[in-house]
Amino acid sequence: MIEVKDLRKYFSSGILKKQYIKAVDGVSFQIERGETLGLVGESGCGKTTVGKLLLRLIEPTSGKISFDGIDLLQLKKKELRKVRPRMQMIFQDPEASLNPGMKVGDSIAEPLKLQGGLNKREIKNKVSELIETVGLNPEHVNRYPYQLSGGQNQRVVLARVLALNPDFIVADEPTSSLDVSVQAQILNLIRDLKRELHLTLLFISHDLEVVRHMSDRIAVMYHGKIVEIGNAKDIFNDARHPYTNTLISPASIVDIKTTSDYHGVSGCVFYPGCPFAAEICSKKEPEMVEIGSGHWVACYYIS
Ligand SMILES: Nc1ncnc2c1ncn2[C@@H]1O[C@H](COP(=O)(O)OP(=O)(O)OP(=O)(O)O)[C@@H](O)[C@H]1O
Ligand SMILES: [Mg+2]
Repeated sequence: MIEVKDLRKYFSSGILKKQYIKAVDGVSFQIERGETLGLVGESGCGKTTVGKLLLRLIEPTSGKISFDGIDLLQLKKKELRKVRPRMQMIFQDPEASLNPGMKVGDSIAEPLKLQGGLNKREIKNKVSELIETVGLNPEHVNRYPYQLSGGQNQRVVLARVLALNPDFIVADEPTSSLDVSVQAQILNLIRDLKRELHLTLLFISHDLEVVRHMSDRIAVMYHGKIVEIGNAKDIFNDARHPYTNTLISPASIVDIKTTSDYHGVSGCVFYPGCPFAAEICSKKEPEMVEIGSGHWVACYYIS
């Protein structure tokens, strides 16, 4: 469904000197149809940037993205507009995605109206159907976002996203702004909808437990690179990259120093903080090696 090859996004920073932030630095992966790939890693490692690149909300510095066999980066504006409804993104903060002056029902109807093809009656029916699908009540249609809870608003966002019958959704920390008590409800809703509607999902979170709950496979990202990828089971039971291990049991490795001067380093991105670092790790970037079926790791220490 999705195939990403050597994707890069460098943001320029610094006014006088030409400097770059390598937000995404040579990332490759695939997502099969109907699958959820979890993307996990600490704040600033490039997760959101990957999500936005996949939907072409931002343009990459280089790389290839294929969406259902379509070479996404070659599409002209008009062709992209046709593909867009099939790919949607859910962000962390539902209130920021919703128009505060628009009633819930109108908000869900908006994408349907923009797309065209349905009359008033059909739109109304479709909105009622979507309201039910995401577990809201019919009376919510006439409310405004400020009258709803964070969890309810995220359901509205979901209804809006589903209105266009997407087949691929990027969910970027969809529950991290919500109360812990409602997080599980929203996560389960997304999981159930994914199954019922045969959606393909990129599920982004900095929380490995949340990613585990949601994902078939998991990609672990560190400083713009994927350092380990595999089935959720393998990542939890047989994690090989030292960074993955620090995520699974933070206490297992002490004194991880994350440095900010990794940009431009020629070796492994995790080298400055890695307790197992050897000389080669600072000199040459480790390549991804398949150590089990579909389980890939970029680390000299394990291979
Ligand atoms: N538009 C931008 N211009 C300049 N730098 C950016 C831009 N967007 C992101 N970055 C930088 O790129 C890096 C990756 O950011 P990104 O938002 O993708 O990380 P993230 O993994 O989603 O983090 P978080 O968990 O905090 O959401 C960061 O260093 C960030 O400051
Ligand atoms: Mg982010």
